[in-house]
Amino acid sequence: MNDKQILITGATNGIGLAAAEALAALGANLAIVGRSKTRTGIASARIRAAAGGGATVATFIADLSSQASVRRLAAEVLARYPKLDVLVNNAGAMYGTRQLTKDGIELTWAVNHLAPFLLSKLLLQRLKESAPARIITTASQAHQGAHIPFDDLNAERSYRGFGRYCETKLANILFTTELARRVAGTGVTANCFHPGLVATGFNRNNGLLMNLGMTILRPVARSPEKGAETLVWLATSPDVANVSGAYFFDQEQRPPSPAAQDTETAGRLWEISERQCAASRRPL
Ligand SMILES: NC(=O)c1ccc[n+]([C@@H]2O[C@H](COP(=O)([O-])OP(=O)(O)OC[C@H]3O[C@@H](n4cnc5c(N)ncnc54)[C@H](OP(=O)(O)O)[C@@H]3O)[C@@H](O)[C@H]2O)c1
Repeated sequence: MNDKQILITGATNGIGLAAAEALAALGANLAIVGRSKTRTGIASARIRAAAGGGATVATFIADLSSQASVRRLAAEVLARYPKLDVLVNNAGAMYGTRQLTKDGIELTWAVNHLAPFLLSKLLLQRLKESAPARIITTASQAHQGAHIPFDDLNAERSYRGFGRYCETKLANILFTTELARRVAGTGVTANCFHPGLVATGFNRNNGLLMNLGMTILRPVARSPEKGAETLVWLATSPDVANVSGAYFFDQEQRPPSPAAQDTETAGRLWEISERQCAASRRPL
């Protein structure tokens, strides 16, 4: 991985941090994205230390809930890297209460789906120029049973934190399917994966009860290092060099839910996502 440039979101904690540590230890050049300068700096030091001090770790500050921030991030990445080998869309969260972003988009949808969608689109040409290149998105088994609420995309009629989260994780898989179709033959692959139930900072932002729930689940959850294994494998392994549009769990391709295999829905979601990002396409 010595000459490989990897950009990873959500690398200040949990699965993303563990993956960045493992990738840096393999010799990759890392670029990590975080919201907070302090947390991103601490993560960068941890990643360097994990690689024995010799790793290159660049930091970018961006709040992925804001489309302007995603666009700024992409512009900074394009200005800095003439070559980008791997993009990892890993940042994600669940929110117990409905909130709107600066763009007027429901927050979970903005962070978990629209940010990976927009960032991947803005970096796609650079990834194509760098081919072979890979785009990896952290999805979840939580997508099982979910459907995209095309008639209520902003969750105005009803909002349940976990239900909404599941919809966005379904969107991650449909996005991967449609992206893979669109980049076929360019040398860029797009895949996603389920990391398992992982003991991270996930769902620690939703009050005391949820925090307690996550603590109770901790003994049956995997370590972030274990949760990151499939991500690291998707980023590095020759076994998946020519695989695209697939969903993985524990380094094995798995069929996602029937809703996640609906290519018509994947195309429809892409078009709607483009429209949802169009409003922010103004000069920064
Ligand atoms: N943990 C699980 O059991 C599990 C299972 C299936 C899938 N996943 C998925 O795994 C991914 C990583 O989650 P995790 O479990 O590692 O959780 P985590 O420990 O909470 O890490 C989430 C990461 O996302 C970043 N993030 C959240 N909102 C952001 C925003 N608005 N802008 C920029 N960065 C933001 C966080 O950065 P800050 O430091 O700024 O908060 C953090 O680095 C998510 O996509 C999640 O859906 C997790």
